[in-house]
Amino acid sequence: MTPEHTQAPTQPPFSGTAVGPCTLVIFGGSGDLARRKLLPALYNLLLDGLLPPNYAVIGFGRVPCNHDEFRALARDGIEQFSRQAIQQDRWEDFAQRLSYITGSSDDPQAYQALRTQIETVEKQFALPGHRIFYLAVPPNVFASSCQVLHQAGMVDPPDHPTRSSRVIVEKPIGHDLESAREINATIGKVFHEAQIYRIDHYLGKETVQNIMVLRFANSIFEPIWNHKYIDHVQITVSEEEGIGARGLYYEQAGALRDMVQNHILQLLALIAMEPPYSLDPEVVRNARMEVLRCLRPIRGKTAEEMTIRAQYAHGTVRGQDVPGYRRENDVRPDSTTETYVALKCYIENWRWSGVPFYLRTGKAMPRRASEIAVQLKDIPEILFNTTPHPRQIPNLLTLRIQPQEGMALRIMSKIPGSRVNTHPVEMNFNYGDAFSAPSPEAYERLLLDVMAGDASLFMRRDAVEASWAWITDILQGWEAHGTRWLPEYPAGTWGPIQSDRLIETDGKKWRVV
Ligand code: BG6
Repeated sequence: MTPEHTQAPTQPPFSGTAVGPCTLVIFGGSGDLARRKLLPALYNLLLDGLLPPNYAVIGFGRVPCNHDEFRALARDGIEQFSRQAIQQDRWEDFAQRLSYITGSSDDPQAYQALRTQIETVEKQFALPGHRIFYLAVPPNVFASSCQVLHQAGMVDPPDHPTRSSRVIVEKPIGHDLESAREINATIGKVFHEAQIYRIDHYLGKETVQNIMVLRFANSIFEPIWNHKYIDHVQITVSEEEGIGARGLYYEQAGALRDMVQNHILQLLALIAMEPPYSLDPEVVRNARMEVLRCLRPIRGKTAEEMTIRAQYAHGTVRGQDVPGYRRENDVRPDSTTETYVALKCYIENWRWSGVPFYLRTGKAMPRRASEIAVQLKDIPEILFNTTPHPRQIPNLLTLRIQPQEGMALRIMSKIPGSRVNTHPVEMNFNYGDAFSAPSPEAYERLLLDVMAGDASLFMRRDAVEASWAWITDILQGWEAHGTRWLPEYPAGTWGPIQSDRLIETDGKKWRVV
């Protein structure tokens, strides 16, 4: 499929507000997220001419670092992880706007030093006091960070006439409903909801943003987008990596908390939401939120019927030996943390009544792939579908989030020849073929939106809590069951047999992604 107009849009599609001069303060400034994602994202925005002409970036963190060492760390991160290569003149321009303050989140003196640095760079670069605080730190320091920011007088109220303050928080926002509420309440004491940007980096992915465009900028999908035509939906997010060095975190999380509570439920919300009546951030967020509210609860014993969890055992992924999960560093030898989860759920509203949504995600799987597959119903048993063999294969719309971003539509076609035999074929659209420019990274788009004050792609407090409420029911169902052992799947395979049964008892099959 080739697009008729491949001209790249000059503006991000939903971002209506101009990006003004600002000061970005990264807590955890020398950490992994800053080095791998945030600093490269800022640099790419600069190269693409999307950063405001006036800006400054201050790293703040416990790791001792002076300004030059921070610049060296940024350069190293950009050289390794940036989408676009270093251009010496642009780099120098960028580097002079980077600085670093060493300090910890419970040290008021460090915050005074930070405040002084903010004021210094704001004077130096004639910045008007629009401040963005990125909390790239573990959630247990969210509270103290917000509190000290407040005490040091660095947070302005949302109605301040000339300055603005915004805060960006990363997941995990809690490990269940109660802890999520606590974190939200803590941040809420210092920042107004309109100033809080909760990141779900999946929402910043180009192909995820395209879900809304696909659904609402085309006329062919919406009429069939309901229980009358759609048989079921599958959402798969599979990863090749095991848990690597993240054992400590992962042991407390598991696949349901790590991937389903946030990324996969957001994909589900985008696929299932009602058409919003405008692109206003609140209208769009309300539409996504409604889906979460309509999810049929999975409680008590139902949790064991509607979900399958498992752990990877020793195996190989792409020829590499992978130890079993229980042998990974920082993992208990009797751990029951799931590295794979599959579940079936229903959205109880008029549009989706009776349509099962199957969700699955896992670590140490054969291939990295995120996709949403929408399978249409069988055609009636007349004309080409009168005999059980061969049956006509139902239409399938596949949205490939990553890799090989694109979309495919499976249709039946006549095999050339004098007899009428049919065969499924695919109409395929590949981002890479259709648009020459590489897609920006999720963090580029998300940082830009915070600068513009556009919260469409961020998680609102009620949405985070609604998804935690649904997930917490499942977690409690699991806890009540008191599992001491989980089914295993060898690393490099598609999950346990029980997961196949979950879908096959409904007469359907997981897609081969
Ligand atoms: C993160 C999870 O939120 O998303 C990780 O904590 C996971 O466990 C990652 O690997 C996946 O993101 P992506 O963009 O690589 O699909």
